[in-house]
Parts: sequence; C-alpha cells; structure tokens
Amino acid sequence: MKNLFIVGNWKANKTESEALIWLEEFQKRLEGEKIDLKHKEVIICPPFFLLPLMKKIIKQRVLPIRLGAQDISQFGTGSYTGEISASLLYDYIDFCIVGHSERRRYFNEDDEILNKKVGMVVGSNKIPIFCVENAEKPIPKEVKIVAYEPVFAIDSGSPDTPENAQAIAAEITRKNSTEVLYGGSVNSKNVAGFTQKENIHGVLVGKASLDSAEFLSIVKNA
Ligand code: PGA
Repeated sequence: MKNLFIVGNWKANKTESEALIWLEEFQKRLEGEKIDLKHKEVIICPPFFLLPLMKKIIKQRVLPIRLGAQDISQFGTGSYTGEISASLLYDYIDFCIVGHSERRRYFNEDDEILNKKVGMVVGSNKIPIFCVENAEKPIPKEVKIVAYEPVFAIDSGSPDTPENAQAIAAEITRKNSTEVLYGGSVNSKNVAGFTQKENIHGVLVGKASLDSAEFLSIVKNA
C-alpha cells in the first residue's frame, strides 16, 4: 500500500479563533470516527501567523497533523521587509508549498525565484511541495514532491479527470523521479478517484480543507 499525503492549503483564510475551532472539531471527529492514518500523512499549511499557535496545540494534544508553510522568502534573514525567511520558519514547519499558481500569477514568481525558494526550503532541511500546472513546467532537481494543479481546476468546482491527472502524474514522475499529488477542486466525493491512481500519491486541497468535517472525510476516503 502506498503512503498518501493529504495536504490542506488554507490560503489567506482563518483567524486565530477559527483555527482553534477547526483543530477542536478535527480532534473530536478523528477520535469519534477512529480513522486509520497508518498510510496517510496529514499536513496543514495555514497562514504564517497561525503556525506557532497551531504547532503548540498540535504538540499539546498529540494530534496527527504536520505543518507546512504556503510560501517562503527567496532571501535569507535580514533587511527584507515583509518577508518570512527559512530560519524564521524553521521551528514550525516540515513542509513548504513552493510555486503555487496563485503565487506565480499574483506575485509574478518565475522559475528563477522559485528555484531560489526551493533552495531555501531544502537548505533548512524541510520538504518542498512544488506546484506545476502541467508536465512541461521546469521542476528544480532537489524537489521530491510535486503537486500537479491545473489552473482551470483550482477553486472552480471543476476538477481534472482522474485519468488525465494520472497520465500527467506519470509523465512528471518519469521526467523528474518525484512523487506527485493532485490538486484542484478536490472534495470528499472525488478524492478516491485520484488517490486510487497508480502515480498519484496524495492531494493538495484548498477550499475543502477549511471545513474540518469535510477535510476529515477527504482524509478518510483517500
Ligand atoms: P481548491 O484549491 O481545492 O480550492 O481548488 C487547491 C489549491 O489551490 O491548492
């Protein structure tokens, strides 16, 4: 049985109190429904400011959640106003999303910047989850986990087909020797169609990860 990564990308959502409620509900449901997480790695990528609080709660309550960042600075620590560098994130995360299509589109992140960001993540011994919209996009050689996220499927309610996602995942794996996740309008009803495919090793979930019950159903059905 393959191991699956179930990654929740909260994007620019959730206040501190909303995050606490999410964790509370997640824990209650997880215990109530006795979901088997043996082959599943649950990762949440909240906004930066929530990382210390979530880390503390996850540790206190021994929750089976690992944390990731949604982005990282291409620069090191120092005079870079507004940036969050790898060493500032070090204590809180195991993973970091790099190259999400929203970063590429709204913040003009190009291949050169994304290469530097991957370097920052890997340089601090964390794991990049590198997003691409097709099998042609360049992937830095240090990357081991790729998320295939076609732009049309993100936040649209219209996911790719599992068959097409499988074909693209296989091509990405063949070219780059990486594991591939699928992302774009994943929910609890369609997740199994993707995770049952040979070359798909998990999912990157945006909107549906904001609701703890729906996210846990995704984890359960994956
Ligand atoms: P979505 O977002 O699940 O809301 O489509 C996925 C993503 O952007 O990572």
